[in-house]
Amino acid sequence: GKQWIQAIRADSLPIDDATRIEHKGACIAIFNLGGKFYATAGVCTHAHAFLSEGYIDGQTIECPLHQGLFHIPTGTPLSPPVTERLKTYETKVSDGYVHILVE
Ligand code: FES
Repeated sequence: GKQWIQAIRADSLPIDDATRIEHKGACIAIFNLGGKFYATAGVCTHAHAFLSEGYIDGQTIECPLHQGLFHIPTGTPLSPPVTERLKTYETKVSDGYVHILVE
């Protein structure tokens, strides 16, 4: 079943910045877009690159390896070479922590 995990302190991630965590062997990227938190798969769907090291522009993340672009809130691939959707996770902030709903 799904469960909420306490991921990071909300005040540890500046606006328009990203970080990543490991959970049960899965890498999860966490983004702070204008004060709202989002979580997606941490590794690009094209090859092995950490999206938390990419370039955030508005609601998009540009992969640091081949510059593929994803829409962060939905995981939708927006420009080549990425074609496969990124997994996304629900988030909430409580008790000062960003929580992520994982399986
Ligand atoms: Fe992300 Fe190639 S690894 S675009």
